[in-house]
Amino acid sequence: MEHQIHGAQQKRPFVTKDQLEAIASEHPTPFYLYDEAEIRRRAAELNAAFAWNPGFREYFAVKATPNPWIVSILAECGCGCDCATGPELMLAEAAGVTGRAVMLSSNDTPDEDFRAADELGAIINLDGPDMVDCLLRALGGRVPETVCCRVNPGGSFEASNGIIGSPEDSKFGMTEAQLLESFARLRDLGVREFGIHAFLASNTQVNDYYPRLARMLFEMAVRASRELGIRIGFIDLSGGVGVAYRPDETPCDLGVIGDGVRQAFEEVLVPAGMGDVAIYTELGRWMLAPAGALVTRVIHEKVTYRDYLGVDACAANLMRPAIYDAYHHISVMGAEDEPPTHRVNVVGRLCENSDQFARDRWLPDCGVGDLLFIHDAGAHGFSMGYNYNGTLRSAELLLREDGSVQQIRRAETPADYFATFDEDPRFSALAGARRKR
Ligand SMILES: Cc1ncc(COP(=O)(O)O)c(C=O)c1O
Repeated sequence: MEHQIHGAQQKRPFVTKDQLEAIASEHPTPFYLYDEAEIRRRAAELNAAFAWNPGFREYFAVKATPNPWIVSILAECGCGCDCATGPELMLAEAAGVTGRAVMLSSNDTPDEDFRAADELGAIINLDGPDMVDCLLRALGGRVPETVCCRVNPGGSFEASNGIIGSPEDSKFGMTEAQLLESFARLRDLGVREFGIHAFLASNTQVNDYYPRLARMLFEMAVRASRELGIRIGFIDLSGGVGVAYRPDETPCDLGVIGDGVRQAFEEVLVPAGMGDVAIYTELGRWMLAPAGALVTRVIHEKVTYRDYLGVDACAANLMRPAIYDAYHHISVMGAEDEPPTHRVNVVGRLCENSDQFARDRWLPDCGVGDLLFIHDAGAHGFSMGYNYNGTLRSAELLLREDGSVQQIRRAETPADYFATFDEDPRFSALAGARRKR
């Protein structure tokens, strides 16, 4: 059960009610709304935190918000792309991100994705020791000049406030012994530059996750370089820096995080003569979650054993509450400063009881017709959507820095939903819907 938050810091929408009503009069709810100014501000904050490292680059985790308009904005801010699949590589290329600015951090990778990444000139990150042979096979017996390997140290991962991840339960990565064996093989095959990557905890709420991870990977890099005589070109800290989904949580401080990584760098890599190593990150959630919201309207009210507000979005638009029991703060537009006096469940239309954006949530007085702003949905929100119950994906809108609004993806129509059926005269009504599109 959620509890009423007393005296907590307020989370405020990045638009006013009037602005949002004007947008909704042209674009029917539900829709995602992203804030360009906030995207650019966050990219600048991250780049500033790591400005001490000349080779630093953020590879935005495309899976978090796979929209080429968003990726292009990030590219203008100096970010590359972390891709997991062939279509994500295509999206990066379409947004003008190619060559070393693309990282293929995949697992269980089909050969064609290795080939696609190689054609783009992307850096390939191998998830397991068997992937050395897969890469060779995919590239016709050749290896790229630069290869990264993903390490998993096992055990549990601790930050100052206790255990924050359990790598030994994770399917990703290879052991340190396997990393060294893979590096030795790749060196003998002709690889000249190596990277080490690890992702050991998700949505961390602390400032010492990256610094501790970095120190561990730096020490590994020194061992690998000494034992194998290889050049480690970069350390990829991947994603995992979290955001304050709840109003009473303290957001991570990127400045403190960057300084912590720098201290480990100066204590471990610089004395080992490895001060030219570049730091890479693959943030998705931290970059985009607070810069995007799901906007939905209340369309029903029902009082049974609980008070329900039925909205026009559902878990197919944002599934994190349904599958992770994740908290997303909800603002009732126009009542941002009103006291939370009503305990409600905010629910969608799916034939699934898990389709509830909030349970026992205290909100200001609110009813049919009100617009709700579901915060921090800009990453792993739209992208995890699906079509259960024949529900359709919403539009994505971009609030430009000049205040204008651009539709960067239209809403799906039934025609999209029926587009992949094999045609048959019995289903002509569906085919008709397809042609109408
Ligand atoms: C390989 C890889 N990199 C980066 C990310 C982004 O993580 P986050 O959004 O937590 O920053 C993910 C998320 O699943 C991932 O799998």
